[in-house]
Amino acid sequence: MARAAVILAAGQGTRMKSAKAKVMHQVAGLPILGHVMAAARGAGAERIVVVLAPGAVDVEAFAIQNDAETVIQERQLGTGHAAACALNALKDFSGTLVVTYGDHPLFTAATFEASFAAQARTGMAIVAFHSQSTAYGRVLTRSDGLLDRIVEYRDATEDERQVDLCNAGIMAADAECFFRWAGALKNDNVQQEYYLTDIPAIAERDNVGCSIITVDEAETMGVNSRAELASAESAMQQRLRARALAAGAGMIAPETVFLAYDTLLEADAQVGPYVVFGPGVTVRSGAEIRAFSHLEGAIVESGAIVGPYARLRPGARIGEDAHIGNFVEVKNASIEKGAKANHLAYLGDARVGAGANIGAGAITCNYDGFDKHHTDIGAGAFIGSNAALVAPVKIADGVYVGAGSVITKETTKDSLALTRAEQKEFPGWAEKFRKRKRAQKAAKAKGK
Ligand code: UD1
Ligand code: MG
Repeated sequence: MARAAVILAAGQGTRMKSAKAKVMHQVAGLPILGHVMAAARGAGAERIVVVLAPGAVDVEAFAIQNDAETVIQERQLGTGHAAACALNALKDFSGTLVVTYGDHPLFTAATFEASFAAQARTGMAIVAFHSQSTAYGRVLTRSDGLLDRIVEYRDATEDERQVDLCNAGIMAADAECFFRWAGALKNDNVQQEYYLTDIPAIAERDNVGCSIITVDEAETMGVNSRAELASAESAMQQRLRARALAAGAGMIAPETVFLAYDTLLEADAQVGPYVVFGPGVTVRSGAEIRAFSHLEGAIVESGAIVGPYARLRPGARIGEDAHIGNFVEVKNASIEKGAKANHLAYLGDARVGAGANIGAGAITCNYDGFDKHHTDIGAGAFIGSNAALVAPVKIADGVYVGAGSVITKETTKDSLALTRAEQKEFPGWAEKFRKRKRAQKAAKAKGK
């Protein structure tokens, strides 16, 4: 049976107090919406329709870039109305649908999978969890364990409010039936909205029973405010750390390491305390990232050591057994096997050949105010401290660049390149200088 997902994301998100759409705020380096889309896709949803508010151009662009379709809900008349808007995109779709909310970053593919599976058994399924919070609709069950109906907290009686089984926000149904039932929704409730949560009661008229899947509350957290966004981040970090440890990554203080949604730490990659990973990082088996480093868009090969206090920016490729030390920044540069930049260097838009050594304070001057240029450093080259390599420039294999030199021209293999002014020396100058200064100070003190 074909599978599709409808993700509702047309709400205002006013409690975030942000110019940015709520679902575009990031958790572990990915917009909240991206997490929901990935979980649905992980459960085999081959079509994803995101329901948007008019003018939500960034949400629309993100959805489309990630192979989802979009429909616009012109007016926010409730979650049931929002879901019904997806019919415009799914007219030709026959199969099973999950409808879910775009602001729940912690839903997992396994939960969507379980919803699809339960739907196949009874015709419909919803996901529930145990909570006393007043924020959620209450799930009322029948004696046979199937769903009786969902009642929104605001519309519930005192007795119903005591029920601690809550609606998480995933509903699975046959697509054609779903849209027919959605067409029968009414808005005769406290908020005068068309509630998605009224659908199971309508389905029951067609003798379709609704299964209830129960998941842990940690998975159902919705993001409505900045504080909830921070809580979701914290929960996601715990999940990512646990996953990385289970896959064999070494972390002595995992609670201090921040991972991105796609960080790949191979078994036996070692990560020290207080390391921050942005998106797009792979650390291979046997590589080590030392404390206080920040990495994004980078690959660190086996045997390499990065940090402490190193910064790898997008396009950094740290080859086998290479060393990137404290206060070294690498951007769009390939540091080949065994090369070393152990202290205080900037390597941008460059290749550093195998075994080359980059001295403290050496930099590639890659930017002229308009364009970026490439620096090529050959294998075994030695770049002296504080050298400035003005790109585009090529340092041949085995070259020594003298400390403090500004290199603008191509150098030949195994040469010494220097641009330093010659050293001058004035014998005895320092002692004469000190004598004069001391005498001046003594005369001034007497005069007072
Ligand atoms: C909803 C559920 C509630 C559940 C809770 C879980 C309904 C009626 N209630 O309540 O049972 O316990 O989620 O978090 O569904 N949206 C639209 N268009 C609209 C209204 C909402 O796209 O017209 C989207 C929002 O962007 C949001 C989602 O639907 O992503 C949920 O809406 P929200 O207003 O947060 O519903 P809750 O009151 O939290
Ligand atoms: Mg909500």
